[in-house]
Amino acid sequence: MVKRILCSVLAITACSTVATAEEVAKVASPGGVLSVSLDVNNDGRVSYAVARNGTPVIAPSLLGFLLADAPKLERNFAFTGQTSRTVNDSWEQPWGEWRSIRNHFNELRATFKEKTGPGREIAVVFRVYDDGLGFRTEFPDQPALKQVNIQEELTQFNIASSGTAWWLPALEWNRAEYLYNRTPIAEVGLAQTPMTVKLESGLHIAFHEAALVDYAGMSLQKVEGTHFKVVLTPAAKGPKVSRMAPFVTPWRTMQIADDAAGLYQSHLVLNLNEPNALGDVSWVKPRKYMGIWWGMHLGEQTWSSGPQHGATTGYAKKMIDFAARHGFKGLLVEGWNVGWDGDWFGNGETFSFTQPYPDFDLKAVADYGRKKGVTLIGHHETSANVAHYEDQLAAGLDLYQSLGVDAVKTGYVSDAGGMKVREPDGTIGFEWHEGQASARHHLKVVTEAARRRIMINAHEPIKDTGLRRTYPNWISREGARGMEYNAWALPTNPPEHEPSMVFARMLAGPMDFTPGVVSLKGRGDIRIQSTVAKQLALYVVIYSPIQMAADLPEHYEQNPRAFQFIKDVAVDWDDTRVLNGEVGDYVTIARKERGGDQWFLGSLTDEGARTLPVKLDFLTPGVQYRAQIYKDGAGADYKANPFPLDVETRTVTSADTLTIALAPGGGQAIRFTPIKGR
Ligand code: NOJ
Ligand code: CA
Repeated sequence: MVKRILCSVLAITACSTVATAEEVAKVASPGGVLSVSLDVNNDGRVSYAVARNGTPVIAPSLLGFLLADAPKLERNFAFTGQTSRTVNDSWEQPWGEWRSIRNHFNELRATFKEKTGPGREIAVVFRVYDDGLGFRTEFPDQPALKQVNIQEELTQFNIASSGTAWWLPALEWNRAEYLYNRTPIAEVGLAQTPMTVKLESGLHIAFHEAALVDYAGMSLQKVEGTHFKVVLTPAAKGPKVSRMAPFVTPWRTMQIADDAAGLYQSHLVLNLNEPNALGDVSWVKPRKYMGIWWGMHLGEQTWSSGPQHGATTGYAKKMIDFAARHGFKGLLVEGWNVGWDGDWFGNGETFSFTQPYPDFDLKAVADYGRKKGVTLIGHHETSANVAHYEDQLAAGLDLYQSLGVDAVKTGYVSDAGGMKVREPDGTIGFEWHEGQASARHHLKVVTEAARRRIMINAHEPIKDTGLRRTYPNWISREGARGMEYNAWALPTNPPEHEPSMVFARMLAGPMDFTPGVVSLKGRGDIRIQSTVAKQLALYVVIYSPIQMAADLPEHYEQNPRAFQFIKDVAVDWDDTRVLNGEVGDYVTIARKERGGDQWFLGSLTDEGARTLPVKLDFLTPGVQYRAQIYKDGAGADYKANPFPLDVETRTVTSADTLTIALAPGGGQAIRFTPIKGR
């Protein structure tokens, strides 16, 4: 009591939590690296804290929920029990950065019940790995809490020290398509996740979420200092989340590592998702593809009908010929369907997902492609009119299935908060791309597509939270500023964009960045802020199991040496090693091709030139490899002289160390092929 009076006199808000909390449960990671303690204070408020090797990482942080139609779930809790277990197994990704994923955690499930009133109950589940942790709340079936209407999740993240943060603003009009802010943690505003921080000690933490299913996506709001709280994405009508108990929230995740490379090597987000729900997914086939696409972004062709229409039968066949000649297995065709005329950003109501433009014979093109070994990649731009799209979803997917089109790129172009969804009451609500309605819609598309053995690559998507594990046909997505910004945006993507993305956005999952614009030119006189070698490095560094050769065929014909690497590089991997890196500065990644014995390496830098020693000890010892090295040529520089590209071939072994020299805004790409018969 004395303490409480003192606290209110001194107006120290966290005082009662700190002063009178009692530890009720704890759990450590299998190797003892991370430990979590759960406390209940004398107000009955539940908090958690995280330490790494005994040093606080997350100071006591409260948990709770604000409800729309009932008192908040936050005070007055009593700890009622706990169970724990250890899981130590591994599972295989059907495709991915790694074939085998180790899953080794200790779990604590703690239950809490309100001491008075209706006596509502919740359970908090922590899964603690050596390289991170996740926790979520379970709402059990109970008479006192049937329909749960969540106004806000009161989860806090009270980072225990200051440092630097890389973050994108949340709930802004351009969704995830922003450049990274690099600020002191204390200067973060409202941030999207993943948000990556580097503490003064050098420790790295990436905050994100896993298994965002039928719930609103979360952002992180800086409260004061290094103290954050969850802000859920609003709904157009009513509470941010409406669910019937029993249900679980998504996992709130923290990957925690000594360095940036360690963040990327963590499998936390995938591990926290449910296993494959689709059964046999041998029909999900990674591939490289070309597209009737960049020409539209350059303004040389149009999505809409007319003299510049890109998606004509004749041009598509020419593209198929080119793709087949160079070994690409897919061709994306955008602007094939009626509805693009006029201002297509606002055309949600007019798109047909079954009717091609008269100058595009969809069946003839699909048949022609199949004969040549090039499958069409379908396109459903919705302009975020989800209601209109859902009305045609089955018919649109049926059509593609009947033509053997096994991958569809979807698109949700509209300002954030402009996604039109048919609400349960039949009216149209203007929803956010990260809201509960959007989470539901995306899973509807993915599961409907899976029934037809179709893969989905969503642009302007909801954030990736590792659901590719459960739905392996959710093959890729956008969800960041991709190559298209280099065609028409000012500013274009700066050189630090990709090394920022690798250690933030890419922790969430694959991205259809659409690399490989070797002409380094956007619309008019817009220059891409990259060297040619960096364009090649992107194929290894920015992971996607469907990877585009985004440039125009004539530009590849003019740059045959660069094109050779794009033709040779793999898209699906058995193993991935992050060899070095600093968030926003540089990164080097080596990956071993799936089912083969070649390795590929990509290294890239921001605006600073760098020389990086790279040990080749990932190669199989005792084997000689031919290394085809694509590197920045003499005097290369992303600003003044981006084109010099040297291609060198050397024989190397796992005992060698390469010195990788990167030009300003530059990169390097290497193909390692075992030399057989020696
Ligand atoms: C935005 C997507 O990111 C881009 O790839 C696509 O070409 C346009 N929308 C049109 O759908
Ligand atoms: Ca986009």
